[in-house]
Amino acid sequence: MSQATLYLGLMSGTSIDSIDAAAVSFDQGQLKLLGTYTHPISDALRLNILNLSQPGLDSVQLYGETDHLLGHLFADAALALMASLSIGPDDIVAIGSHGQTIRHSPPKTNSIAFSQQIGDANIIAARTGCSVVSDFRRKDVALGGHGAPLVPAFHHSLFSHPQRQRVIANIGGIANITVLPADGACYGFDTGPGNLLLDAWCKRHTGKRYDDKGAWGATGQVDAALLKQLKTHPFLGLEAPKSTGREEFNLAWLESILTDHSLPPENVQATLTAFTAQTLGDAISALDDNIDEVYVCGGGAFNNQLMARLEETLPGSVVSMTDDLGLAPSWVEACAFAWLARQRVLSLPGNLPRVTGASRPAILGALYLP
Ligand SMILES: Nc1ncnc2c1ncn2[C@@H]1O[C@H](COP(=O)(O)OP(=O)(O)OP(=O)(O)O)[C@@H](O)[C@H]1O
Ligand SMILES: [Mg+2]
Repeated sequence: MSQATLYLGLMSGTSIDSIDAAAVSFDQGQLKLLGTYTHPISDALRLNILNLSQPGLDSVQLYGETDHLLGHLFADAALALMASLSIGPDDIVAIGSHGQTIRHSPPKTNSIAFSQQIGDANIIAARTGCSVVSDFRRKDVALGGHGAPLVPAFHHSLFSHPQRQRVIANIGGIANITVLPADGACYGFDTGPGNLLLDAWCKRHTGKRYDDKGAWGATGQVDAALLKQLKTHPFLGLEAPKSTGREEFNLAWLESILTDHSLPPENVQATLTAFTAQTLGDAISALDDNIDEVYVCGGGAFNNQLMARLEETLPGSVVSMTDDLGLAPSWVEACAFAWLARQRVLSLPGNLPRVTGASRPAILGALYLP
């Protein structure tokens, strides 16, 4: 009988900042984070991913090559984490690899729904000697769902509380919330941009990939007129289930709005910070459930300005980070994909139809054997 008890989760999100790798065990279903590793993504590969994410700059050749290169990079990340923990394939039940999203086209009238992640799982399986679960989103899309967000079921299993009404707010490239009322229910949706616009504007004007701690944005003033216009984005008014991506919130969209405004770049950054915080906070305030506690995860938790602005919009809730629930903000998503791999291995569902809009709960992900 196999001695394997561990799962690895591999995640690279919309921010394309790095590959996050987490090793976890589930002793009697209780998650324990045993080790973590962050693997860099080169500027050249990041540019290829950005081009693939943009209709017109994509091509089948670029797709095939980037899928292959990312497969190797995910394998590198898994192998580095395994080496750091002195564990081998015999210790690991499965690796859950989300892959890199290059297009997310959720169900809408008059369009064909699909969500495409790349990073060839065959390569990860071949190089690590482990079983790999990947392609998590497309079964949900096949059932009429958005295929996103997928983290709520994991948040529900780990973070719900019988007396407290909680929200887990993941601020990655896109921001999404999981609502965990005390009655045991669970729902959630994407609220709009997370770090996506902040990163893009910061890169353009300072050359840095992100606004460290929100310090640059803090030097600017929020512009009320720009903020008001940003808030007219149609996604924000949609009813859940809803999900979004780079296709809807990007520099081209921002620039089309900025033509009506003449502002110093730091004021734009300050306004984008407020926009991101308020769209997230407003979504939480508008819930039917009154929320006692909001726990933030994802890299946005480290943007102090963003966190301060979020707190301002939520005077009735305690806002903190998921460390307070025993899991560091940076590792929640990678752990979620380790958990989703386990759901697949145990033939348990990974989606929540109330969240994604799928017609039923389903076992998510394809299994790639070593
Ligand atoms: N010290 C920091 N100060 C400000 N922002 C930070 C800091 N550290 C990380 N971030 C932000 O977090 C982002 C990365 O967050 P994360 O890895 O959660 O996002 P992601 O990979 O896009 O995931 P998702 O799939 O949820 O979109 C960075 O691009 C950056 O904007
Ligand atoms: Mg990331």
